[in-house]
Amino acid sequence: MQAIQTFSLKKYFYNGEYEVRAVDKVNLSVEEGEFVAIMGNSGSGKSTLLNLLGGLDEATEGEILIRGESLRGMEREERTIFRRRNIGFVFQQYNLVTSLSVYENIVLPLCLDGLAPDEAFLNHLVELLKIGDKLYEMPERLSGGQQQRAAIARALITHPAIVLADEPTGNLDSATSMEVAGLLKTCARQFDQTVIMVTHDKTVARTADRILLMKDGVVQVADDVLSTKDGVVQVADDVLTTKDGVVQVADDVLSKEDGLAHASDDILPMEDVQ
Ligand SMILES: Nc1ncnc2c1ncn2[C@@H]1O[C@H](COP(=O)(O)OP(=O)(O)OP(=O)(O)O)[C@@H](O)[C@H]1O
Ligand SMILES: [Mg+2]
Repeated sequence: MQAIQTFSLKKYFYNGEYEVRAVDKVNLSVEEGEFVAIMGNSGSGKSTLLNLLGGLDEATEGEILIRGESLRGMEREERTIFRRRNIGFVFQQYNLVTSLSVYENIVLPLCLDGLAPDEAFLNHLVELLKIGDKLYEMPERLSGGQQQRAAIARALITHPAIVLADEPTGNLDSATSMEVAGLLKTCARQFDQTVIMVTHDKTVARTADRILLMKDGVVQVADDVLSTKDGVVQVADDVLTTKDGVVQVADDVLSKEDGLAHASDDILPMEDVQ
């Protein structure tokens, strides 16, 4: 089953006189359990895309299906509840509540839903994230890496099917960054979650199963997925699938127009697929 699907998803902003196409006709398909990294220059639309996927912002046009359910049809409040139950967010700035202890921060999403935490799961989570001894500290007394791990615990406590992490390692040193990325991957595997992580760090991105590149609001396949051999563009094996003996390109490399699948021009023309 697909955890996330978008169809010609657009978010345009109007900055006075001109239009910013922050997300432009994005067709994305992420399978359940997949760990996807999104890279791209500043301003390329990564955060906007993540906010749309998480229902934090509304699309200008297009469709988002989260586990088959359309976000478009939902009222604001319905979307908030759906988000709380299905999606965990990790923000670059951690966004911990400074007046609450680490423990209170972690269980906050459950409290908002009137639910009691599963203490055994919470203990497992904080042990995995190595903050078991920090639960009754206030966030300001934790290092950046520890705060980020607390924020990850808060994102995972509700067993969300989908975890959206916007530059979760943006404020961390390289060793801690790799640790946090590794933890996200471990959690995804252990709890069978789908993770989308935005990052500027190539080493961090390589921990993912798949790397997507955003440029001017358009999602592209990262360079290292494509290679050129004898003048012909080749696609890495995991982008190709074989169906009835015919080699096919993965859905997200294709866009659909007039009911027909097209390979995005800037990725590769269909006839070049070998
Ligand atoms: N609320 C807004 N109003 C107007 N323009 C916006 C708004 N939010 C984002 N934009 C514009 O949309 C584009 C994409 O912004 P976005 O924050 O998604 O980029 P990003 O890829 O996350 O960048 P960074 O790597 O710096 O975080 C930018 O040109 C930005 O100026
Ligand atoms: Mg951003």
